[in-house]
Amino acid sequence: MESFTLTVKRTFKTSRDSYIITFNEKIDFVPTQFIMIETPSVVRKPFGLGNWFADLAIGVQVIGKGTQYIVEQKILSAHGPLGRGFVPPSGKGAMISTLACLAMAFDLHQRCGCDVFIGALEEPQIEVPFKTVLGDQQFVELLKSLKGYDWFYVVGSDQMEKVCFELLHDKAPVYLSFNEYMACGLGACRGCAIQTKEGLKHVCVDGPVFRGDLIWN
Ligand SMILES: Cc1cc2nc3c(=O)[nH]c(=O)nc-3n(C[C@H](O)[C@H](O)[C@H](O)COP(=O)(O)OP(=O)(O)OC[C@H]3O[C@@H](n4cnc5c(N)ncnc54)[C@H](O)[C@@H]3O)c2cc1C
Ligand code: FES
Repeated sequence: MESFTLTVKRTFKTSRDSYIITFNEKIDFVPTQFIMIETPSVVRKPFGLGNWFADLAIGVQVIGKGTQYIVEQKILSAHGPLGRGFVPPSGKGAMISTLACLAMAFDLHQRCGCDVFIGALEEPQIEVPFKTVLGDQQFVELLKSLKGYDWFYVVGSDQMEKVCFELLHDKAPVYLSFNEYMACGLGACRGCAIQTKEGLKHVCVDGPVFRGDLIWN
């Protein structure tokens, strides 16, 4: 794992509590790999790597002290890239994401041409280059309407991922990015272990993306 410094090019809001941070540097990574970012607390925080147009970028939803600190900085210390990354299966895919993961969605769309659908609670504060639905009802209607895809990839809250799995898994395989708490990101602390049908897995080294039917029925 490499340690490096990231210098912020631009930080801008995508919603009331979510931001995209773009960087001057480039990093080689594969889709859904993440970095651990240092904050004043002892614990480093994981963020999925992505792009925003030509720039390396991450999306950050501010939910606590660490994320608030990250969106206020001009220079960040980070470690990575970590995780196995997600190799999209062949065929036509759809990624379903929140605004907080827009940079990851942009990256996957650029690389494999998958369709992207964004679920947001309220009107985004930027022009989103993908179909965006607002609120729970529109989101459920969107999921029910999706047809003709060979795979789905979902990244968002645990609750959103469960709803997506329930409504999509009869149509095509559903891949989910898991959100377990991480301390080391390296498979050393065992803090991110999850039980799967193939035994215990660690989200940081075996994931973060798993097929939903490996975890849920
Ligand atoms: C592999 C991976 C990739 C991630 N990528 C992104 C990303 O691209 N963008 C993004 O905005 N966030 C991402 N996250 C989540 C992000 O790391 C956390 O939101 C962040 O660590 C919270 O730090 P904090 O200090 O602001 O909040 P804390 O003070 O740590 O927590 C604030 C509140 O949020 C809850 N919480 C904190 N972390 C999590 C978690 N992982 N799951 C569920 N609840 C939690 C706490 O219980 C507490 O109630 C990712 C998480 C993982 C595991
Ligand atoms: S975060 Fe330490 S083992 Fe996964």
